[in-house]
Amino acid sequence: MARGCCRTRARRRRRWKALRGAAVAKLPRVGEETTGERAAAAPGRLLGRGRDADVYDLGDGRVLRRYRVDYDHANEITALRYLHAQGFPVPLLHEADGGRDMIFERADGPTMLADLLRHPWRARSHARLLADLHRRLHALAAPPGLPGPAPDPGRGVILHLDLHPANVLLSPTGPVVIDWSNAAAGPAGSDLAHTLVVMAVSEVPDLPWPLRPFVALLRRRFLRAFLAAAHADPAPFLAGACRRRLSDPNLLPSEARRINAMLARS
Ligand SMILES: Nc1ncnc2c1ncn2[C@@H]1O[C@H](COP(=O)(O)OP(=O)(O)O)[C@@H](O)[C@H]1O
Ligand SMILES: [Mg+2]
Repeated sequence: MARGCCRTRARRRRRWKALRGAAVAKLPRVGEETTGERAAAAPGRLLGRGRDADVYDLGDGRVLRRYRVDYDHANEITALRYLHAQGFPVPLLHEADGGRDMIFERADGPTMLADLLRHPWRARSHARLLADLHRRLHALAAPPGLPGPAPDPGRGVILHLDLHPANVLLSPTGPVVIDWSNAAAGPAGSDLAHTLVVMAVSEVPDLPWPLRPFVALLRRRFLRAFLAAAHADPAPFLAGACRRRLSDPNLLPSEARRINAMLARS
């Protein structure tokens, strides 16, 4: 029985790898994008690109995270310094110039999302790891200075409000949580609700059509395992998380449609 199960799993891995070989391997490589005009303005090799920022390797163990638009990152700095002092796995913040740039320690390793697409059979263990990061984060009271539901400190735990697989780097020394621009104070369940909404509706960037059904399956498996391991109840916060996500200027039309459908069902 156990051996049959292993054989089935091995067959699934081979099938997935064949599909990936045909499609995923053709995805643009981030490191190749700093050619031509962009290269002149780039401070280093482009290491990663999210919806808000471009991240460059400065070549000395540090990265430059450059927002594409002006941004007040006071909350991000407050959260990062506090979390680093508390021993929560965030990259060390070296410098922030008050403008678009922040310099961090580089964390080596793929994002959890990239690792999932490469190794879909890791969905359950990655989902449990993500739930555990939420649990560890929410064991910490929010520091003063973060926005939240009430103006006094001690009003809740520290929240990331975008803690999903694309914001976790899997470094050889353990997971590192990046992208703290939404850091806030509040109830743990609201962070879990935000993660659920993002994972349920977000488009995976540059995903070739033939892989979509597999990713839909993977998404469901991941969501189930994440919910089973979650330490707080996200249900009372789901509608709020949907509305918050709808106000994100980077939201794609297909994502907005899915969120509105979720809201209509709730
Ligand atoms: N400290 C870091 N070390 C190494 N790579 C990083 C680091 N911070 C960000 N990156 C890379 O840059 C990408 C985008 O970073 P992120 O902070 O999530 O930007 P955005 O706010 O645009 O989502 C990440 O997926 C990752 O590949
Ligand atoms: Mg990000």
